[in-house]
Amino acid sequence: MLKPEQPLYVYELKGGVPPPFLNLEGLLGVWPEADYTYLFFTAPADATLQLFFREHPEFKLTRHYQLPYGHWQQLAAREPLVIDRFKIITREQSVQLLPDEILLRIDPGVIFGSGLHPTTRGCLRALSLLYSTVNPAKVLDLGTGTGVLAIAAAKLGAQQVEAVDLNPMAISTAAANCERNGVTNKVHLIMGDARENLPEAELLCVNIHFDFLKEFLDDRAFCRYRWAVIGGFLREKLPMVRELLPSCAMVKEPELEEKGWVTLILEMSKL
Ligand SMILES: C[S@@+](CC[C@H](N)C(=O)[O-])C[C@H]1O[C@@H](n2cnc3c(N)ncnc32)[C@H](O)[C@@H]1O
Repeated sequence: MLKPEQPLYVYELKGGVPPPFLNLEGLLGVWPEADYTYLFFTAPADATLQLFFREHPEFKLTRHYQLPYGHWQQLAAREPLVIDRFKIITREQSVQLLPDEILLRIDPGVIFGSGLHPTTRGCLRALSLLYSTVNPAKVLDLGTGTGVLAIAAAKLGAQQVEAVDLNPMAISTAAANCERNGVTNKVHLIMGDARENLPEAELLCVNIHFDFLKEFLDDRAFCRYRWAVIGGFLREKLPMVRELLPSCAMVKEPELEEKGWVTLILEMSKL
């Protein structure tokens, strides 16, 4: 677990496809994003990168900057972070659990999904609410990030969770978090685009940005699922989301809102 004051050295490269394994000194991880690749280091890596550029002349350094880890990843000021039935800790500490509470041990590294963001909170509340009345055994978590929702679903009672993310660094972070929570036997991680990875499931969970959701909701493949938890959009987009919902989908009450971000629980009627 990185300390909030630990400096992060971020190098932005353009022009190539990062090799699947990069053995560079001090490298925390690789984050490909559209035409760019971001490399995260815990110490200045200029010399290391000069060697890398000699072997990979297709990459060009476009920017580099330094910031404290605590600025990149906001963590709860006080832990455990309590969200409905969940208690989330990001550092090793002993925690007292009430009989119905569920502990999530999440080391987010530099990946989205520490539990602090309102969209994650909304999805966790939705999962907890849904599992209080039904018990979906198979779950598909699109845009898993740290794996927080996949792990939560597994701990709520899902037998099998498929968790997809296109960022390889999210997949390795989620893998470590699954191990930390003892759910590696239940959660299967898939690196790839969510649009091309839609395994069968009873419950679909999507917390990806609005542009993805807009396109995805339009896809009638949605109706294959029995329930869905969808988040990642602000209240102002809610009318558009409701309009785009496939006809099989019924919004279940309550609509959840956290700091202007909405999460919906959907129940799909059989086609
Ligand atoms: C908002 S974060 C959600 C993380 C976590 N599920 C949570 O609720 O905190 C969205 C995640 O979706 C991933 N992502 C974005 N577009 C994607 C796509 N087309 N296919 C798969 N994953 C995608 C990002 O890499 C990121 O990890």
